[in-house]
Formats: sequence, structure tokens, C-alpha cells
Amino acid sequence: MIRGRDSKRAKIHKLLEDHIPSNLSSYIPHGWWYIGDVLIISIPKQLLDFKHIIGEVFLHVEQGKARSVFGKVGPTKDIIRTPEFTYLAGDTNSETLHKELGCQFKIDAAKLTFSPGNHGERKRLIDIVQKNEFIIDMFSCVGNLSLPLAVNNEPKKIIATEINPLAYRYLEENIKLNKVEDRIFAIFGDNRTVLSEYQGQADRVLFGYFNGDDQQKRLAIRLCKKGGIVHFHEIVPAKEEETDKLIKKLVVIIEQETKSDMDIAFKRVKKFSPGMDHIVFDVKIN
Ligand SMILES: C[S@@+](CC[C@H](N)C(=O)[O-])C[C@H]1O[C@@H](n2cnc3c(N)ncnc32)[C@H](O)[C@@H]1O
Repeated sequence: MIRGRDSKRAKIHKLLEDHIPSNLSSYIPHGWWYIGDVLIISIPKQLLDFKHIIGEVFLHVEQGKARSVFGKVGPTKDIIRTPEFTYLAGDTNSETLHKELGCQFKIDAAKLTFSPGNHGERKRLIDIVQKNEFIIDMFSCVGNLSLPLAVNNEPKKIIATEINPLAYRYLEENIKLNKVEDRIFAIFGDNRTVLSEYQGQADRVLFGYFNGDDQQKRLAIRLCKKGGIVHFHEIVPAKEEETDKLIKKLVVIIEQETKSDMDIAFKRVKKFSPGMDHIVFDVKIN
């Protein structure tokens, strides 16, 4: 007997068989994810002509749960990491309220990044952050990594920087919505220029961005006080030697920036794409 998602997948296939030529049926998406009540599916280019009927079928099968359906049709782009989503079915308004880990994230799900695959990392941070830490979130988006810490932990202070005006607007709104204005402070702008006053002060720096340059990595290290930790997120080919190569690169940067010793641990956050993993490197500056 098939249950849950498997039975829904079977239903989706059956309903779409009447609309999609049989030579294309193998491209029908198997998976979907939610940000709030916005359902998102990856649409391969072979199925772009059928995107609205695909959206309608998913909306029907997920009725009561999905309000809108959007399709991911390309990679996340630019410095501000805009996802390439297209409207498929249901309500055209992609603003939603996503609830997770005791937080409410208001977000435009079609214009900003919020990865459900990072849930484990968001939870892990809650588990490891200690009372009274000073935390800097260099790439905040709507508070993806730092809002759960403001809500669930007792940090001394969190500084959250964001360069995209739309993400910054939601970040500010989410701080109020979750009533944590006393412990998390949003700063609009480029982290390279707005964080200099905090050098040598942070217990923890969140570097949740795959496209950070060496200047930003050096800044993250300089922001830490002795014993501070930086969590660097990277996309790495899923091979041990590639992870080792990246660690060696980090060691060079850290050694140039600080004369201190360091401990480096790493953890796989999720599979990112075929053959590529999302890894978080926990670097402790001793
Ligand atoms: C991919 S999102 C990641 C959000 C979150 N850290 C996470 O891991 O889920 C990266 C965010 O960093 C922001 N960003 C990129 N460059 C930045 C910079 N120089 N200063 C501040 N924010 C920046 C982008 O606008 C985007 O909202």
C-alpha cells in the first residue's frame, strides 16, 4: 500500500497523463516543498509549455495546504540571491508566513531565498549557541539563520546585515513580528562596510552565503574575539579531497588574518545538486 507523498505522486502522475505527452512524462516533478503556504516545484525546461496545468494539478492534490504554486525554472542569481521562480497556479501573491522552530518568517517566497533543506542547520545552531553570546549574521536575508536564535536562545545581542532592500524590509518586520527587538538589530547595507565597529567582539559569526569573497571571509575572522566561531557555508563537490582542499584554503586565510591557532570541523547540511554538497565549516579561532 502506498501512503503520504507516494500516493500523492501517483495521483499527480495520473492526473497529468492526460495533458503531457508520454515521451515527456518522465520529467514530471517528483518532489515539492513549501515556504508557508506557497508550494514550489522545480520545472524542467522540457515541461515549460505545461507549467500551468502542472501547477493546477499540484494545487488540487495539495488543496487545503497550498494557496499558491510557483515553479523554480533556473538557478538562484546575483549578489542578492534572487530565485528564478515563475507563477504556476492559485493566488498570484507570493508573500506568505512561514512558521518554523517557534518563529514566524514573513517572506516573499518567489523573490527571496529560504531553503527548507537548511532546517537542520537552523536547528543545530539553536542547540549549540550559548547564553549571552554576541552573534553577527553577515548575510541575513529575512532572518533565516539568526531569527530562530533570537527567539529560542538568550543571546546578548545579534547584529544582522542585509544588502537587499526587500529582504531587509522583511527582516525588520520579522524582528517586530517575533517581538525580539531587544536582542536583534538589523543593519541595511554591504557587510564589508557596515561592520567595522564590531571587530574582535563576536562570539559567533554566521556566514550563510556561498558566494562570499576572501575579503568577506577575512572580515568574518576579524569580527571574532578569541575563542569565537565562524560558520562558513560552501558548495563543495561531494568528494573528501575537495572538502580537504577547501579546509586548506580556509587555513591559509585564517593564518594570514590572525596569528592564532584554530579548530575546524565540518558538517554536510544537504545535497545541493547532483555531485555537489552544501557543507558548513565551523572554524574556532583559539
Ligand atoms: C542566500 S541568502 C542566505 C540567507 C541565510 N544566511 C541562509 O543561510 O539561509 C544570502 C543573503 O545575503 C545577502 N547579501 C549578499 N551580499 C551581501 C553583502 N555584501 N552584505 C550584506 N548582505 C549580503 C543577500 O541579499 C541574501 O539575502
